[in-house]
Amino acid sequence: CERQDSRASRERLLVVANRLPVSAVRRGVDSWHLEISVGGLVSALLGVKEFETRWIGWAGVNVPDEIGQRALIKALAEKRCIPVFLDEEIVHQYYNGYCNNILWPLFHYLGLPQEDRLATTRSFQSQFDAYKKANQMFAEVVKEHYVEGDVVWCHDYHLMFLPKCLKERNRKMKVGWFLHTPFPSSEIHRTLPSRLELLRSVLAADLVGFHTYDYARHFVSACTRILGLEGTPEGVEDQGRLTRVAAFPIGIDSDRFIRALELPQVQDHMKELKERFAGRKGILMQICEQFIELLMVNVNNCKVMLGVDRLDMIKGIPQKILAFEKFLEENPNWRDKVVLLQIAVPTRTDVPEYQKLTSQVHEIVGRINGRFGTLTAVPIHHLDRSLDFHALCALYAVTDVALVTSLRDGMNLVSYEFVACQASKKGVLILRAAQSLGAGAILVNPWNVTEVASSIGYALNMPADEREKRHHHNFVHVTTHTSQEWAATFVSELNDTIVEAQLRTRQ
Ligand code: G6P
Repeated sequence: CERQDSRASRERLLVVANRLPVSAVRRGVDSWHLEISVGGLVSALLGVKEFETRWIGWAGVNVPDEIGQRALIKALAEKRCIPVFLDEEIVHQYYNGYCNNILWPLFHYLGLPQEDRLATTRSFQSQFDAYKKANQMFAEVVKEHYVEGDVVWCHDYHLMFLPKCLKERNRKMKVGWFLHTPFPSSEIHRTLPSRLELLRSVLAADLVGFHTYDYARHFVSACTRILGLEGTPEGVEDQGRLTRVAAFPIGIDSDRFIRALELPQVQDHMKELKERFAGRKGILMQICEQFIELLMVNVNNCKVMLGVDRLDMIKGIPQKILAFEKFLEENPNWRDKVVLLQIAVPTRTDVPEYQKLTSQVHEIVGRINGRFGTLTAVPIHHLDRSLDFHALCALYAVTDVALVTSLRDGMNLVSYEFVACQASKKGVLILRAAQSLGAGAILVNPWNVTEVASSIGYALNMPADEREKRHHHNFVHVTTHTSQEWAATFVSELNDTIVEAQLRTRQ
């Protein structure tokens, strides 16, 4: 949210997302510490500098008192961020409940949580009411800060009710809505008790965007099959009003990663990592304490495999680790020569499904390390934490093979970040099929442990000329399909859609 560019004529953009790009940590009655939030949405939007941007969202913390709220508003204003204050009960019902226990698994085809389907069904209505209430609260904050002509860009599954709330407050507001997760097939969307209200509300937006053509197609078909509306090549039509629907594949701010590799602190991290993996002794890495301990093993000329994911069931971390186990099982010659570093960033830790997943992953990692570890080496280094930007860039740069094998994802940007940092090493990317970055990667079905295991072998043995060719494909894609281009295209399409609608009304 550091939009320091001083060009006066930039278009004003109100980005509305559940989470601000910074999370607040209270340090005193009226003092706050701000930390960058995790997640693809934040990482992509931070790179967008063409607009005069304000962010509206939740700061990830409950602030019941007025002194704290005023201090936080002031601290966030410096970052051009505006908080929406949600109390604990709303967060529990809206964020943990409806968003992350119902919409998130459903949109990723995981269905409702297995063990408490009935309980979920019973609490559904109160969670949906809280969802609508939270969306109304976001709408009020937008209304307060809106200036005529602003583009209001609503993001993600947390705010599907927002386009309707905004248009009810101001019919002329330019409203776009973008989904960062998959939109499921209409047959799945049908199973949602609030299916009608959510679709109708999203349709109140002028432009609705998805990462892929398939998700856009699913949305249009849900509107035609469930609401009985007309789908056109442009979008969805309801009584003469068109909601434009299209695909806008997101990217990253690739220059930020490429430039970071030149920074001395990143170079230092890289040097230390390389030396560590070349087996030289006495080198201390500054990445983080736990990491240093974990890496104080004697890994001689090891190949480094890397996974970076939020610790979420859609990321397929257990499946990935089981594939690595299978690889070690079938390739004893590789056992001391490859390590898998898995960075698993904790997320949504109040939701029981996420707590269960954490224990499950720990159990599998422990078992495999027990099985294949030696006195001096363990095959999997698993960290339940995030790394800072510089440490992450260094890690990407020294990695030989990245495993980006989420079971289903909106658009996974870790693969883009890895490619941006690989200009010199030209490492291999193993990727779940059906992501837009595909041509240079080894594409796998993450559910097929045997296939992933053999792809690991293929990647580790890949000759340099093939690695170079594949990397070149990926690098061109990542550096041309950037987050800046994504945002500019979406906003310009939104403006065009509104002009066209005005012309249609005049005719
Ligand atoms: C995904 C979602 C984002 C979300 C992020 C982090 O990328 O699409 O909207 O912010 O995960 O999840 P969290 O629940 O911590 O905000």
